[in-house]
Amino acid sequence: MSAPNTPTYWDYLGLEQLLSLQGGLEGDETRLMPDELHFIVVHQVFELWFKLILREVRLARDHLAAPVVPEEHVPYVVHHLRRVNTIAGLMVAQFGVMETLTPQDFLDFRAKLVPASGFQSFQMREVEILLGLTAEQRTDKDFGDPLAALRRFAEASPGGKLAIDRIVAVQKEHTLREALHAWLHRTPIQGSTPDEAGDDAVVTSFIDQYLAKQVESHRGQRDRIVEVGALPPAAADAKFAAAQAQARSFLMAEEVDPGERARTRRTRAAILFIESYRELPLLAWPRLLLDTVVELESSLVLFRTRHARMVERVIGRRLGTGGSAGVAYLDRTAENRIFTELWAVRTMLLPRVDLPSLQRREDYGFA
Ligand code: HEM
Repeated sequence: MSAPNTPTYWDYLGLEQLLSLQGGLEGDETRLMPDELHFIVVHQVFELWFKLILREVRLARDHLAAPVVPEEHVPYVVHHLRRVNTIAGLMVAQFGVMETLTPQDFLDFRAKLVPASGFQSFQMREVEILLGLTAEQRTDKDFGDPLAALRRFAEASPGGKLAIDRIVAVQKEHTLREALHAWLHRTPIQGSTPDEAGDDAVVTSFIDQYLAKQVESHRGQRDRIVEVGALPPAAADAKFAAAQAQARSFLMAEEVDPGERARTRRTRAAILFIESYRELPLLAWPRLLLDTVVELESSLVLFRTRHARMVERVIGRRLGTGGSAGVAYLDRTAENRIFTELWAVRTMLLPRVDLPSLQRREDYGFA
């Protein structure tokens, strides 16, 4: 017989409690419909993954948000965000398990769930908010307002206080996006750092050179496109001119308030700089961090898309139990983007041979 303080697998994992939490609305597993345990377990597993994701993102955010981020902390941040990406990949695959539920099997118990829905997953909302998704960035508002739905049901339900408290708390936290931007803002651009005299002029000059090189690079592309007959000359000219205007407006942060413009300009130029000169030894970890964040957002989009396809297969295009437009709403959520600048820069990257020449190369070597 083991001593009372001997650790056991079941105590450490709280298995007794964990395995008694699948009773559904009846609080009794024996009264569940044949496929209901499957439905409950799959959802609970997802919620556990959300819990872990929140912790990993907070760890990454905290390390990145420090006023000075030691070089060795960047691999730590990348490591924790990569774990999130691996989990997200697994969650995408897990929808295949959910999908073994046939439409008819689900209809056997769907009606009793109304208005319960993943719409009310406060952990999913926390993930979005913690990463940095704002109400303005949401493209899905016309199809259903997820935060309003959550609040409405949380106020009416005895267990809803937890949901409201957690949303209110996460809305006060720094987001991963803010931490990333604060860190990016300090990136040396052409060897210059924000605390150096004349830094703003170096940044602006880098942007001007980049845009000038873009015009040259576009000229060759435009001629080739016209030559092969892919576009008539006037249409090709208009498209390249629009792309150039868009790049200038973005890099010069024209849409940003004048008081914040220089800061945003520097942050955007930093992304462009890291992506363009990504082979430089000192930019090895920064570029991996940017790659990891792009992958994270891609994973979130894949999660949303895969969920929508699974839902379409099981319930077709009917209204969701949470009251949204169902699949039409879910498809719209897949258009949400948080790290918009990382995506925008990809549109304007130049081939290596067309890049402006690098200044102070020695600053980017290993010490
Ligand atoms: C047969 C299975 C499922 C069906 C039919 C289904 C259906 C839906 C529908 C129609 C919505 C839109 C909101 C509404 O009006 O209800 C929704 C939202 C959601 N579902 Fe599912 N779902 C299923 C399984 C899952 C699973 C396994 C998860 C795992 C966590 C999940 C997570 C979510 C989340 C997080 C939302 C909110 C999406 C957002 O607003 O961004 N669902 N679901």
